[in-house]
Amino acid sequence: MITRRNLLIGSAAGAAAAVLASRAFAELPPLAKKDKYKVGFAQTESNNPWRLAETKSMQDEAKRLGHQLIYTDAASSAAKQASDVNSMIAQGVDAIFLPPREDKPLVPVILAAKAAGIPVFLIDRDVDHTMAKPGEDYVTFIGSDFIEEATRIGEWLVKNANGKSKIIELEGTTGASAARDRKKGFDDFIAKHPDFKIVASQDGDFTRDKGRQVAETLLQAHPDADIIYAHNDEMALGAIAALEAAGKVAGKDVLIVSIDGEKDGVQAIIDGKIGAICGCSPLFGPKSFATLADYAAGKKIAPFIKNEDHFFDAGNAKKDFALAF
Ligand code: AHR
Repeated sequence: MITRRNLLIGSAAGAAAAVLASRAFAELPPLAKKDKYKVGFAQTESNNPWRLAETKSMQDEAKRLGHQLIYTDAASSAAKQASDVNSMIAQGVDAIFLPPREDKPLVPVILAAKAAGIPVFLIDRDVDHTMAKPGEDYVTFIGSDFIEEATRIGEWLVKNANGKSKIIELEGTTGASAARDRKKGFDDFIAKHPDFKIVASQDGDFTRDKGRQVAETLLQAHPDADIIYAHNDEMALGAIAALEAAGKVAGKDVLIVSIDGEKDGVQAIIDGKIGAICGCSPLFGPKSFATLADYAAGKKIAPFIKNEDHFFDAGNAKKDFALAF
C-alpha cells in the first residue's frame, strides 16, 4: 500500500505527483536502441566487499560497452538513495539500475522515474510488490532467490550440525528484501525441523561491527546457543570476533553459517571457523547491461531474472576459493 508516510520518505511532493501520474500509464517506458547510453547506478553503500564487488562489476561493464555510468553512493541511507535517483531523473538518464536499500522507501522514486519515461531495472534487492510490480512499474528484478539461499543453509545444517541445535540469527538490514527473505526462508525451514530452535534473532544491519555487537549481546543472553546463522558473511565475521572475545572457539563451540561468499568468509571456512556459506553473487554488470540491451531491442523481459549461487563448505572452499569475491 502506498501510504502518505512512504511517499514523504522519497522526494515529497514531486514524487507523490509522479506516483499519481505513473498510475495513469500501465505500460513501462520504452528504451530507444542506441550504441551508447547514459545510465544511472544508485548504490546503497560501500562499506563491505559485496557492495564494492557489485559497483566494480557495474563500472567495468559500462566501461567495456562504452556507456556513461552516473554512479552515486547512498551511504546506508534510503532517503539519500531516493534523492540520488531523483537527481538521475533530473539529469535525464536513459535508464536506472537500482538496488533498493529497503523495500518500501524507494517505491516513490521508481514510480517517479516511470512517470518521467525512464525505465528502472532493480538489481540485487527487490521492492514490496504490493506497492510496485516488475513488468509494470519497473522492468524486472535481477538477483538471487534469497529464500532459496536460506533454505540451502538450513538443509546443510540438518546434515552437518552434529547435535548442535540452539540458533542465534543475525538478520540483515530491516526492510531489505534480502533480510526479509533470508529470514523467512530459514525460519520456515527450521519450523519444520523440531530438533532445531531459533533462540534469538536480531538486526545486525549486514555490517561486521553491528554483527559483532549483536552477537555479543545475544551470546550473553543465550550462553547455550551453539549455532549462529548470519544473513551475510560480514556479520558472521563479526560473530567470530564476539565468540573469540567471549573465550569461545568458532567452529567448535559454536557452528557458524552465512551467506555471500566473500574472500574473508571462504577463508574462515578453510580455517575451520565457518561451517558453510551459500554464495550470493555481486557480479551484476554483464547481466544488467545485457538485460538493458534486450529491453531496448523489444525482447520480452521476465519479471525475475535469477542469479545462480555457489555453495561453499569444507569440501570445496580451497578448490573454489577463486569464486570468492
Ligand atoms: O542484497 C545483498 C546483500 O546486501 C548481501 O548479502 C550483503 O552482503 C549486502 O549488503
